[in-house]
Amino acid sequence: MDASYKFIDHAYDVLVVGAGGAGLRATFGMAVSGLSTACITKVFPTRSHTVAAQGGMSASLGNMGEDDWRWHMYDTVKGSDWLGDQDAIEYMCREAVPAIVELEHYGVPFSRTDEGKIYQRPFGGMTTRYGEGIAQRTCAAADRTGHAILHTLYQQSLKHNAEFFIEYFAIDLLMDDEGVCRGVVAIDLATGELHRFRAHQVLLATGGYGRTYFSCTSAHTCTGDGNAMILRAGMPLQDMEFVQFHPTGIYGSGCLITEGARGEGGYLTNSQGERFMERYAPNAKDLASRDVVSRSMTMEINDGRGVGDEGDHIHLHLEHLGADVINERLPGIAESARIFAGVDVTKEPIPVLPTVHYNMGGIPTNHFGQVVNLVNGDPDTIMPGLMAIGEAACVSVHGANRLGSNSLLDLIVFGRAAAMRAAELVKPDTPHPALSERATDKVMDRFDALRHSNGSTPTAELRLNLQKTMQTHAAVFRTGESLSTGLEKVKALYDQFDDVKVTDKSMIWNTDLIETLELSNLFPQAVATVASALNRPESRGAHARDDHKERDDESWMKHTLVTVSGKGEVSIDYRPVHMTTLSDEVEVFPPKARVY
Ligand code: FUM
Repeated sequence: MDASYKFIDHAYDVLVVGAGGAGLRATFGMAVSGLSTACITKVFPTRSHTVAAQGGMSASLGNMGEDDWRWHMYDTVKGSDWLGDQDAIEYMCREAVPAIVELEHYGVPFSRTDEGKIYQRPFGGMTTRYGEGIAQRTCAAADRTGHAILHTLYQQSLKHNAEFFIEYFAIDLLMDDEGVCRGVVAIDLATGELHRFRAHQVLLATGGYGRTYFSCTSAHTCTGDGNAMILRAGMPLQDMEFVQFHPTGIYGSGCLITEGARGEGGYLTNSQGERFMERYAPNAKDLASRDVVSRSMTMEINDGRGVGDEGDHIHLHLEHLGADVINERLPGIAESARIFAGVDVTKEPIPVLPTVHYNMGGIPTNHFGQVVNLVNGDPDTIMPGLMAIGEAACVSVHGANRLGSNSLLDLIVFGRAAAMRAAELVKPDTPHPALSERATDKVMDRFDALRHSNGSTPTAELRLNLQKTMQTHAAVFRTGESLSTGLEKVKALYDQFDDVKVTDKSMIWNTDLIETLELSNLFPQAVATVASALNRPESRGAHARDDHKERDDESWMKHTLVTVSGKGEVSIDYRPVHMTTLSDEVEVFPPKARVY
């Protein structure tokens, strides 16, 4: 390592990387339990991508009609196309109720019913009585639920003396010679100073990697930095082939129009003015699960019934809801539609298109947030010192397709669970073992090489090519042919990364350097996604193979574990889906045909 690199050293009981909903819930929970807690975040906490979560958080409170956590569990298993682990899903749906009551007590300003209870709206795939009726299960703060949650949890974390390192970019994990995670090296974006954090548990809450795609609802910061750290440490990611397309991204900009808009009564039409979802999902119609709606929209467009001059999108109607409902329940999306589509939603439909929104895959964990790996045939071996939660993690509660409003739920339930587990595992003020210099050298050698990249291809050019390749070759519908061409192209671009040019070698506010580090994180995740999709010859949830249209439970009810080393050398293994429950209050839901 270049000896000129100097470090500011810190030691904490626990360290959280990322300050979205999951990271803040965990940070707050750990700080409350008396652990010295630091949180590193590359953006100001309340600007984390959770701020864009509009529609709400599911929990079977039953405030607006009958409900039961078992019905929620059934919907989630069905939504996952039977790839979700049923023990983890049971945990999430049961714990949803206390988790949201706690949030309310911490101060989240939920919308209210006339009786003063938390307001709940319908969302796709959420039903009563195991599919019989439509549930009103999604707890909302108008259409700014994520925003409200972030503000509350940040304030609570500060109140309990958590320490924040804001606008710090986590470069990599500090792994000791035994493969135990001992901390993280980060750079302070404003000063260029390097910080070395030691902790007994490092918790990755770094979000998804939506920015591998050209059109996504994800913030520019969603580069899956934690996922890439796991791959670099030689550990696998799970189920990376399952990428969710949200039905209603604004055509042209990709900005999200919440599913809550359809929950409040909005509907989709094609160029003939037809409410086509009635044909594809006769019961749930526009509130079928996201993968079903996105595929239906894509088929309408492909069959020549798209709207607009190029027939390449669909209309979402809210005009009939009236200004009062829109102003009270959906003020944020009315503003987004005006700014990004030039549309007054009280008068005209919004032009929308399925847009990349969420990664079901990520870092494999148990339902306490501990990272697991397949070691010596045991798929649930716990990796010491390392936890992951939120979109970065794959618990797996979403399986092959996530239901809308189960994401905020996942962030909060598993942020809370991870904090409780860390409090059991770590005794406050335990001294840190000595760390070999090799751990830091490994991180800094890679950083230094990237910083001094002196090729001829700008980072932005390579990133755009990667994003366009992913958009074309790992789309709503895939085939073996499109995926294998996609894999070749992604690997070729990854090779070209050797020729990247970082123009400015400074360490201070060097966005070119940080974007290059982020691109180095996006590449292996893109390879993992396409390779895993190519290796799964069936259609399940968000993974729709035109050349293998059926779900194949006999051969493929299993999770993919993918590692990527070097410049895209892939190795793939599988582990069984957990078909067990934690309690005897509910039975396993066996697979069946998935109709809405
Ligand atoms: O449509 C939405 O409001 C997004 C929610 C989610 O992804 O859970």
